[in-house]
Amino acid sequence: MDKNAMKKMAAERSVDFVEDNMILGLGTGSTVTFMVEALAKRVKAENLHLTCVCTSIRTADQAKSLGIPVMALNDVDHIDLTIDGADEVDANFQGIKGGGAAHLFEKLVATTSTRNIWIVDREKVVDTIGQFPLPVEVIPFGSQQVFDRLLKEGLNPEFRTTEAGQRVLTDSQNYVIDLHLGQINHPHLLATWLSEQVGVVEHGLFLDTVNQVVVGSPEGVEILT
Ligand code: 5RP
Repeated sequence: MDKNAMKKMAAERSVDFVEDNMILGLGTGSTVTFMVEALAKRVKAENLHLTCVCTSIRTADQAKSLGIPVMALNDVDHIDLTIDGADEVDANFQGIKGGGAAHLFEKLVATTSTRNIWIVDREKVVDTIGQFPLPVEVIPFGSQQVFDRLLKEGLNPEFRTTEAGQRVLTDSQNYVIDLHLGQINHPHLLATWLSEQVGVVEHGLFLDTVNQVVVGSPEGVEILT
Protein backbone atom coordinates (compact mmCIF):
# COMPACT_ATOMS: atom_id res chain seq x y z
CA MET A 1 0.00 0.00 0.00
CA ASP A 2 1.42 3.40 -0.90
CA LYS A 3 1.91 6.17 1.64
CA ASN A 4 -0.87 8.34 0.28
CA ALA A 5 -3.42 5.56 0.71
CA MET A 6 -2.34 5.15 4.36
CA LYS A 7 -2.50 8.93 4.90
CA LYS A 8 -5.98 9.05 3.39
CA MET A 9 -7.24 6.25 5.64
CA ALA A 10 -6.01 8.03 8.77
CA ALA A 11 -7.36 11.37 7.55
CA GLU A 12 -10.82 10.02 6.80
CA ARG A 13 -11.05 8.27 10.19
CA SER A 14 -10.00 11.41 12.07
CA VAL A 15 -13.02 13.44 11.02
CA ASP A 16 -15.21 11.06 13.08
CA PHE A 17 -13.89 12.98 16.11
CA VAL A 18 -15.40 16.25 14.88
CA GLU A 19 -18.64 17.32 16.56
CA ASP A 20 -21.22 19.94 15.63
CA ASN A 21 -20.48 23.51 16.82
CA MET A 22 -16.80 22.86 17.43
CA ILE A 23 -14.04 25.37 16.92
CA LEU A 24 -11.62 23.25 14.97
CA GLY A 25 -7.92 23.70 14.18
CA LEU A 26 -6.85 22.50 10.74
CA GLY A 27 -3.19 21.56 10.24
CA THR A 28 -1.12 21.60 7.07
CA GLY A 29 0.25 19.03 4.64
CA SER A 30 -0.81 16.30 2.26
CA THR A 31 -2.50 14.22 4.98
CA VAL A 32 -4.44 17.27 6.13
CA THR A 33 -5.52 17.89 2.53
CA PHE A 34 -7.27 14.49 2.61
CA MET A 35 -8.75 15.34 6.01
CA VAL A 36 -10.17 18.68 4.83
CA GLU A 37 -11.78 16.93 1.85
CA ALA A 38 -13.43 14.40 4.17
CA LEU A 39 -14.44 17.15 6.59
CA ALA A 40 -16.11 19.15 3.83
CA LYS A 41 -18.16 16.08 2.89
CA ARG A 42 -19.34 15.66 6.52
CA VAL A 43 -20.13 19.37 6.87
CA LYS A 44 -22.29 19.20 3.76
CA ALA A 45 -23.98 15.87 4.47
CA GLU A 46 -24.77 16.64 8.14
CA ASN A 47 -25.09 20.42 7.91
CA LEU A 48 -22.45 20.80 10.65
CA HIS A 49 -21.76 24.26 12.08
CA LEU A 50 -18.04 24.61 12.53
CA THR A 51 -15.56 27.42 12.93
CA CYS A 52 -12.13 26.51 11.59
CA VAL A 53 -8.75 28.06 12.32
CA CYS A 54 -6.10 27.19 9.73
CA THR A 55 -2.36 26.77 10.21
CA SER A 56 -1.36 27.95 6.73
CA ILE A 57 -2.54 29.98 3.78
CA ARG A 58 -2.62 26.72 1.82
CA THR A 59 -5.07 25.01 4.21
CA ALA A 60 -7.20 28.15 4.51
CA ASP A 61 -7.48 28.36 0.72
CA GLN A 62 -8.56 24.70 0.49
CA ALA A 63 -11.07 25.01 3.35
CA LYS A 64 -12.63 28.16 1.92
CA SER A 65 -12.85 26.64 -1.55
CA LEU A 66 -14.85 23.73 -0.07
CA GLY A 67 -17.24 26.00 1.83
CA ILE A 68 -15.74 25.47 5.30
CA PRO A 69 -15.94 28.67 7.41
CA VAL A 70 -12.50 29.98 8.40
CA MET A 71 -11.54 32.44 11.14
CA ALA A 72 -8.21 33.88 12.28
CA LEU A 73 -6.59 32.55 15.45
CA ASN A 74 -6.80 36.06 16.92
CA ASP A 75 -10.59 35.99 16.57
CA VAL A 76 -11.33 32.86 18.63
CA ASP A 77 -10.99 32.46 22.40
CA HIS A 78 -10.33 28.72 22.31
CA ILE A 79 -10.04 25.75 19.96
CA ASP A 80 -11.80 22.49 20.87
CA LEU A 81 -9.84 20.12 18.66
CA THR A 82 -6.98 20.38 16.18
CA ILE A 83 -6.28 17.72 13.57
CA ASP A 84 -2.83 17.91 12.00
CA GLY A 85 -0.23 15.77 10.32
CA ALA A 86 3.28 15.07 11.63
CA ASP A 87 6.63 14.02 10.20
CA GLU A 88 7.65 11.63 12.99
CA VAL A 89 6.17 10.51 16.30
CA ASP A 90 7.53 8.14 18.95
CA ALA A 91 5.76 5.91 21.47
CA ASN A 92 5.70 8.75 24.03
CA PHE A 93 3.96 11.03 21.50
CA GLN A 94 7.01 13.27 21.09
CA GLY A 95 7.16 14.41 17.50
CA ILE A 96 8.69 16.43 14.71
CA LYS A 97 6.61 18.73 12.53
CA GLY A 98 7.40 21.39 9.97
CA GLY A 99 8.06 19.36 6.85
CA GLY A 100 5.61 21.76 5.21
CA ALA A 101 7.28 24.79 6.85
CA ALA A 102 4.10 25.56 8.81
CA HIS A 103 5.26 24.57 12.31
CA LEU A 104 5.11 28.10 13.77
CA PHE A 105 1.40 28.51 13.05
CA GLU A 106 0.83 24.82 13.82
CA LYS A 107 2.38 25.19 17.27
CA LEU A 108 0.37 28.33 18.00
CA VAL A 109 -2.85 26.57 17.05
CA ALA A 110 -1.90 23.34 18.87
CA THR A 111 -1.09 25.13 22.11
CA THR A 112 -4.45 26.97 21.96
CA SER A 113 -6.30 23.70 21.37
CA THR A 114 -7.87 21.63 24.14
CA ARG A 115 -7.24 18.41 22.20
CA ASN A 116 -4.78 17.56 19.45
CA ILE A 117 -4.98 14.62 17.06
CA TRP A 118 -2.24 13.73 14.59
CA ILE A 119 -2.90 11.77 11.43
CA VAL A 120 0.03 9.81 10.02
CA ASP A 121 0.98 6.84 7.91
CA ARG A 122 2.63 3.93 9.74
CA GLU A 123 6.13 4.76 8.51
CA LYS A 124 6.12 7.94 10.61
CA VAL A 125 5.79 6.07 13.89
CA VAL A 126 9.40 5.58 15.03
CA ASP A 127 11.39 4.38 18.05
CA THR A 128 13.49 7.54 18.26
CA ILE A 129 12.69 10.81 16.49
CA GLY A 130 15.36 12.65 14.51
CA GLN A 131 15.75 10.73 11.28
CA PHE A 132 13.47 13.37 9.74
CA PRO A 133 15.41 16.67 9.59
CA LEU A 134 14.27 18.99 12.38
CA PRO A 135 12.95 22.29 10.97
CA VAL A 136 13.94 25.55 12.63
CA GLU A 137 12.24 28.77 11.48
CA VAL A 138 14.59 31.77 11.65
CA ILE A 139 14.16 35.42 10.73
CA PRO A 140 16.15 36.36 7.60
CA PHE A 141 18.03 39.15 9.41
CA GLY A 142 21.16 37.55 10.87
CA SER A 143 20.12 34.08 9.73
CA GLN A 144 23.71 33.30 8.66
CA GLN A 145 24.87 33.97 12.24
CA VAL A 146 22.15 31.64 13.57
CA PHE A 147 23.19 29.03 10.98
CA ASP A 148 26.86 29.32 12.09
CA ARG A 149 25.84 28.85 15.74
CA LEU A 150 23.87 25.71 14.86
CA LEU A 151 26.86 24.44 12.85
CA LYS A 152 29.26 25.10 15.74
CA GLU A 153 26.92 23.18 18.02
CA GLY A 154 27.26 20.15 15.69
CA LEU A 155 23.60 20.21 14.62
CA ASN A 156 24.25 19.76 10.86
CA PRO A 157 22.15 22.68 9.64
CA GLU A 158 21.02 23.22 6.07
CA PHE A 159 18.94 26.11 4.71
CA ARG A 160 15.80 24.70 3.09
CA THR A 161 15.60 25.61 -0.59
CA THR A 162 13.10 25.19 -3.39
CA GLU A 163 13.84 23.07 -6.47
CA ALA A 164 14.88 26.32 -8.16
CA GLY A 165 17.49 26.85 -5.42
CA GLN A 166 15.70 29.75 -3.68
CA ARG A 167 15.42 29.79 0.10
CA VAL A 168 12.02 28.55 1.22
CA LEU A 169 9.93 31.28 2.83
CA THR A 170 7.31 30.47 5.47
CA ASP A 171 3.90 32.18 5.60
CA SER A 172 5.60 34.69 7.93
CA GLN A 173 8.34 35.33 5.34
CA ASN A 174 11.01 33.62 7.43
CA TYR A 175 13.64 31.03 6.42
CA VAL A 176 13.76 27.39 7.47
CA ILE A 177 16.97 25.69 8.56
CA ASP A 178 16.74 21.88 8.72
CA LEU A 179 18.89 20.08 11.28
CA HIS A 180 20.13 16.67 10.14
CA LEU A 181 20.50 14.89 13.44
CA GLY A 182 19.86 11.20 12.76
CA GLN A 183 18.37 10.76 16.20
CA ILE A 184 17.31 13.03 19.03
CA ASN A 185 17.94 11.37 22.38
CA HIS A 186 17.09 14.36 24.59
CA PRO A 187 14.31 16.25 22.83
CA HIS A 188 13.39 18.46 25.82
CA LEU A 189 17.00 19.66 26.24
CA LEU A 190 17.31 20.41 22.53
CA ALA A 191 13.94 22.19 22.46
CA THR A 192 14.95 24.41 25.36
CA TRP A 193 18.33 25.23 23.79
CA LEU A 194 16.80 26.07 20.41
CA SER A 195 14.12 28.27 22.00
CA GLU A 196 16.86 30.27 23.73
CA GLN A 197 18.67 31.15 20.50
CA VAL A 198 18.15 34.72 19.33
CA GLY A 199 16.81 34.72 15.77
CA VAL A 200 15.06 31.38 16.12
CA VAL A 201 11.33 31.98 15.78
CA GLU A 202 10.19 28.38 16.40
CA HIS A 203 11.44 24.82 16.02
CA GLY A 204 9.58 21.71 14.93
CA LEU A 205 9.86 19.70 18.15
CA PHE A 206 6.29 19.17 19.39
CA LEU A 207 6.68 17.71 22.86
CA ASP A 208 3.81 16.66 25.13
CA THR A 209 1.36 18.22 22.68
CA VAL A 210 -0.68 15.47 21.09
CA ASN A 211 -3.47 13.42 22.75
CA GLN A 212 -4.21 10.85 20.05
CA VAL A 213 -2.44 9.60 16.94
CA VAL A 214 -4.48 8.09 14.13
CA VAL A 215 -2.24 5.76 12.13
CA GLY A 216 -3.04 4.46 8.66
CA SER A 217 -1.45 1.13 7.69
CA PRO A 218 -2.11 -1.74 5.27
CA GLU A 219 -3.84 -3.56 8.14
CA GLY A 220 -6.26 -0.69 8.71
CA VAL A 221 -6.46 2.32 11.00
CA GLU A 222 -5.08 2.22 14.53
CA ILE A 223 -5.80 4.88 17.13
CA LEU A 224 -3.01 5.39 19.65
CA THR A 225 -3.96 7.11 22.92
C1 5RP B 1 3.71 20.96 8.01
C2 5RP B 1 3.68 19.74 8.84
C3 5RP B 1 2.98 18.55 8.27
O1 5RP B 1 1.92 18.23 9.11
C4 5RP B 1 3.94 17.41 8.18
O2 5RP B 1 5.05 17.83 7.40
C5 5RP B 1 3.30 16.20 7.53
O3 5RP B 1 3.05 16.46 6.18
P1 5RP B 1 2.42 15.37 5.21
O4 5RP B 1 1.04 15.10 5.69
O5 5RP B 1 2.44 16.04 3.85
O6 5RP B 1 3.29 14.15 5.23
O7 5RP B 1 4.19 19.67 9.93
O8 5RP B 1 4.50 21.95 8.58
